[in-house]
Amino acid sequence: MQHETAMPFETVQILAAIQAGDTPAADFAHLKLPSSYRAVTVHADEAEMFAGLAGRDKDPRRSLHVEDVATPELGPGEAIVAVMASAINYNSVWTSIFEPVSTFGFLKRYGKVSELTRRHDLPYHVIGSDLAGVVLRTGPGVNKWKPGDEVVAHCLSVELEDAEGHDDTMLDPQQRIWGFETNFGGLAHLALVKANQLMPKPAHLTWEEAASPGLVNSTAYRQLVSKNGAAMKQGDVVLIWGASGGLGSYATQMALNGGAIPICVVSSPDKAEICRAMGAELIIDRAAEGYRFWKTEDEQDPREWQRFGARIRELTGGEDPDIVFEHPGRETFGASVYVAKRGGRIVTCASTSGFMHSYDNRYLWMNLKRIIGSHFANYREAWEANRLIDKGMIHPTLSRSYRLEETGQAAHDVHRNLHQGKVGVLCLAPEEGLGVRDAAKRERLLPAINRFRNV
Ligand SMILES: NC(=O)c1ccc[n+]([C@@H]2O[C@H](COP(=O)([O-])OP(=O)(O)OC[C@H]3O[C@@H](n4cnc5c(N)ncnc54)[C@H](OP(=O)(O)O)[C@@H]3O)[C@@H](O)[C@H]2O)c1
Repeated sequence: MQHETAMPFETVQILAAIQAGDTPAADFAHLKLPSSYRAVTVHADEAEMFAGLAGRDKDPRRSLHVEDVATPELGPGEAIVAVMASAINYNSVWTSIFEPVSTFGFLKRYGKVSELTRRHDLPYHVIGSDLAGVVLRTGPGVNKWKPGDEVVAHCLSVELEDAEGHDDTMLDPQQRIWGFETNFGGLAHLALVKANQLMPKPAHLTWEEAASPGLVNSTAYRQLVSKNGAAMKQGDVVLIWGASGGLGSYATQMALNGGAIPICVVSSPDKAEICRAMGAELIIDRAAEGYRFWKTEDEQDPREWQRFGARIRELTGGEDPDIVFEHPGRETFGASVYVAKRGGRIVTCASTSGFMHSYDNRYLWMNLKRIIGSHFANYREAWEANRLIDKGMIHPTLSRSYRLEETGQAAHDVHRNLHQGKVGVLCLAPEEGLGVRDAAKRERLLPAINRFRNV
């Protein structure tokens, strides 16, 4: 069910103010908010629509709606942002196919935290965990951000009322992923965020480029670079699964930027070429080389782990990976544990192919390897990751953008692994290429920014 309706008058005014490029902050503060806005949603009463189908056959184009929803009330510490562009993340795919669980359970649970969070518990879920846009309103207690600020938002939504989160906000018991475990996400014309999700939009990027790194760039930063993850250092050999995908395309850049040696695993010559364009030299095309880590549904094939390990050594001149950057999960995890170096670490943030992993523990304990769990990033880590983009040291990996009305197709492409890097979504932005405020810096970095375009 997808329909296009006319934008409310207030939204037209908001867009005009943003497009002008020089609208004073005071004018933004006086713009009226519309009572409703266009958004990509899933519906609670459709959570069973794919019952009985295999995961692969669950089609986001059927479950994602584009419709007008009520503008939420603004609370303390929050901001309402006009969203110019957003991006598809794998969590948008999970939400749209109601796997591994329906996200309405998250909303219900969040709704029980306080009077204010009850707003999130609705029969529809506005999804999306990335945005680039402009702050329209801030709630009581917000001092650092004001209407008119051009921003991106990271997706850590945290209450921070407990002690546990004060060393590392990802450890807060009330930690959630905005637009996945909370409502009012970024695939929409407006979004509701906590002000401590906001970060400056890199001035040299378009709206859709700026919106695309957020979630995966921050996740890769914590997983690979941060001391909370693998704490990568110069010279480390890093095996990166899905090296041209969402997470992997940032992990590859971070490895190269940090003086490490990435071994990029991909599944086609096109993807291998993109890794080369990023500067990687050691590449494994897992499809061409035909690795089959599972003999049957229940049994892995250690000879295939060995063949994979031998190929890695061939590429590195005999070295094993100090770090394995894991996210495919079940299908690859046994191989990942096997090939990691003695004393090395396997750092995992996901299980795309299945979350019940099995591996031969002898290789882990006898060789003193460590498995590290990692999930999104705290504000500081997300800020550092965004700073790398702003400095032009890491670049967006946007391959193409869709209109908001085409979000179902965009999510379908990611679900079927038909995409490269990141897939963007234009929200209020009427076309691609808008929002650049530092053209000279952009010009200097353009070839790197465009590496993933239309490949
Ligand atoms: N915990 C977190 O905070 C966090 C954050 C971001 C993402 N995630 C999760 O991480 C996973 C990947 O996200 P993403 O954005 O990088 O997705 P993506 O853009 O689809 O990229 C993943 C890549 O992994 C490779 N891959 C997929 N299945 C594989 C398999 N069975 N064996 C080997 N390689 C496989 C594919 O590359 P090739 O086909 O080229 O090999 C694919 O392009 C998702 O499950 C997502 O939900 C978690």
